[in-house]
Amino acid sequence: MKALGQWTAALLAWAGLLLAMPGACLAQPQAAASSLDVLHWWTSAGERRAADQLRSLLVPAGVQWNDAAIPGGGGTAAMKVLKSRVLMGDAPDVAQLIGSTLTEWADVGLVLPLNGVAARRKWSQTLFPAVLDLVSYKGVVIAAPLGLHRINTLLYNRRLLGRLGLQPPHSWAEFEAVARAVSAAGIKPLAWSDEAWQIATVFESLLLSEAGPTLYQEMIVQRKSAAWLDPRVEKALLRLRWLRAQSGLNADAPAERVWTQSARELMDGSAAMLIMGDWTRGELMAWGASPSTDFGCVAVPGTERMHLYSVDTLAMLVNARHPVALQEKVAETLSALPAQLAYNRIKGSVPVRRDLSTAARKSLDACARDSWETFAAPGTARMPSLAHRMAADEATKDAVAQALWRYLSDPHMDALEAQKRLAAVMHTP
Ligand code: BGC
Repeated sequence: MKALGQWTAALLAWAGLLLAMPGACLAQPQAAASSLDVLHWWTSAGERRAADQLRSLLVPAGVQWNDAAIPGGGGTAAMKVLKSRVLMGDAPDVAQLIGSTLTEWADVGLVLPLNGVAARRKWSQTLFPAVLDLVSYKGVVIAAPLGLHRINTLLYNRRLLGRLGLQPPHSWAEFEAVARAVSAAGIKPLAWSDEAWQIATVFESLLLSEAGPTLYQEMIVQRKSAAWLDPRVEKALLRLRWLRAQSGLNADAPAERVWTQSARELMDGSAAMLIMGDWTRGELMAWGASPSTDFGCVAVPGTERMHLYSVDTLAMLVNARHPVALQEKVAETLSALPAQLAYNRIKGSVPVRRDLSTAARKSLDACARDSWETFAAPGTARMPSLAHRMAADEATKDAVAQALWRYLSDPHMDALEAQKRLAAVMHTP
């Protein structure tokens, strides 16, 4: 988790040096005294609505959110733009930096410590401990947490399954039966995209399903290379190929589509199911679909009572403008309970706070309530998402996604070869 890619470290250290230089006055645009430049990758309809909600929550606090959005699901492009902006001496005031990328940036002094806000807002008592841990590094709080996404989510089209007299699947055997029945009706069982980050998102749920939490931890968190050669990983890889085939794609013709296209197929009933993080719920709702009548969700088969999470966080960057008071206001305002409820309802995620009243819990829709309650339950296996930066640095995450992409697009590569490649990528740093 705390591993720092050498290249990234060098670049960021250079940027840190630039900022530390007296009179570091690289071109800084003149901004209004109350405005903050916010870099993020929330550009789909649901994400946009959620970002707009954050923006309006900040208005009463006297903060004007200047949008610096970089399109691209999963944030790959946004991370590149952020790096180059920092190197140009034009770091935004606030950035969507999550998981391990946060610690990389904190390591080189580019992130404003938020210990004062955390103490004033009693984060140690109100946030989930796993969330506070994620935003803490070497005793310093380095970001404001916004929402908790569940990656091991299987979404289904309620009307379609209802029309065919089918129940959402809770086991792989049930999934296969649903897939057969949906296919027989001439409909695609599963929506799919071959974009590397989306493949990785599906795969880590399968890995957790087949391997279980202990082996998942060994592979993803402890990075024990040998664990990747376990036969359960082979099962997950074979299931990945099988699932892709359920979307009707040929092995040798990759179809890389933005994730919203798959969500669209689910919504219009041309596909029955989709495995994707629950930000998809935010998207479907933005398009007018309702979680009680149009779509539903269950945990990916074999991952009930497990929560494969990705936490969205905003880091306050150190830059020549030094808008510290405003940056602290952002962290204070957005971590407060009303803001948490308002924002997460739109985003498809759930509050990062553990102190929800019974009424607040009841106000969540069924899928969100299940996510929040599962995360809160003492016996839950809470597992960090690799595909969404919770467990490894950007370069490792990308290398894993590439290895999986290769495996899927080369029908001649067998699962063992893919396992060896993954083991090599995930060796202990
Ligand atoms: C982020 C979500 C975002 C999703 C798709 C994830 O990495 O945590 O907030 O909606 O990518 O862009």
